[in-house]
Amino acid sequence: MNGIIDFNYFEKVRVKLSTRADNSYNIIIAKNLFPALARSISRDNFGSRYCIITDSNVAKIFGNRLLKQFNGLGIKCDLISFPAGEKSKNLKTAGKILEKMASIGLDRKSCVIALGGGVAGDIAGFAAAIYLRGINFVQVPTTLLAMADSGIGGKTGVNLGAGKNLCGSFHQPKKVYMCTEALSTLQKREMRNGLAEVVKHAVIFDRDFFGFIEQNLERVMSLEDGIIVKLVKRNCELKSKVVEMDEKESNLRKALNFGHTIGHAVEALGNYKKYSHGQAVSIGMACEAQIARGIGIMPERDAGRIRALLQKIGLPVRLEYGAQETLEAARSDKKADGGKLHYALAKSIGRMHTEGGKFAVHVDDGIVKKVLEGCR
Ligand code: GLY
Repeated sequence: MNGIIDFNYFEKVRVKLSTRADNSYNIIIAKNLFPALARSISRDNFGSRYCIITDSNVAKIFGNRLLKQFNGLGIKCDLISFPAGEKSKNLKTAGKILEKMASIGLDRKSCVIALGGGVAGDIAGFAAAIYLRGINFVQVPTTLLAMADSGIGGKTGVNLGAGKNLCGSFHQPKKVYMCTEALSTLQKREMRNGLAEVVKHAVIFDRDFFGFIEQNLERVMSLEDGIIVKLVKRNCELKSKVVEMDEKESNLRKALNFGHTIGHAVEALGNYKKYSHGQAVSIGMACEAQIARGIGIMPERDAGRIRALLQKIGLPVRLEYGAQETLEAARSDKKADGGKLHYALAKSIGRMHTEGGKFAVHVDDGIVKKVLEGCR
């Protein structure tokens, strides 16, 4: 019987967890949301007190203003800030934030306000997810990248030495407030980065939306009110549909990785300095559209339109690394499954390709290498 447990006699207690809580939430998108933000958040009653968590840059532009709004309403609110930049997205910074949350006495009824771009949203959401085993949080993304992607869907977390986003939790916000006036504080470069993810959502789900971006790019870049709200809203509708259907990324949510298998490799090969995430994803999308064309599932015309739109936005599309080193870098990414690379590919603009119902498909390395050589 060595090593074998004898279960001839046992009692059984079942822990029934099949009833899921309704975690639905609203995303509010408006131009002039910020001046009334504290009033709007407090009216929703998500906490008996609030704690804004943001980075040192956003604290100066929006954090202190929001804090003053809460103070003006006589509602208890604190602000915790951490040094701006991806280098802060780690367990050390998260630990400091958590200690601070404890020292100011946040309790289970407190609500975190995750204010800022992708890093602030991810780290503040993560702190809310694990503090006291999870407290409420609302998300206030201030960059287009965060409004387009990381601010929707409840992925929170930090990087580990071994790779990006390796430590985290799915923790859905109670509400998301997208104040499009915040976009006027961004450099054009940051707008372009956000647009890369918006284009991704259009390619994988909505051909008309892709055409809308093509036709209105200048009005988007100049932040024309009606156009920008429409762009952000349609993007939110597309991403949130995916999250509704596959919150924990078992299949459909993997479609959101279009451009990311090659994109993550490019980001890593540039040591996370040469290319921003949006730029790397742009190169990834241009290459993966060619992979889809190379295996005969995407028409040449669509691959060309994707490349042309990314270029028109001002994003890079040319792969500057060798095919072999790109594939090796892709294989070290956390999404590589036992060394076998998977791609989320579109079969045309607006329609995803599936194999056996799966959105992440394997493509033979030999074919990918040949295609990638042509993308340089
Ligand atoms: N950024 C992809 C996702 O939220 O699943």
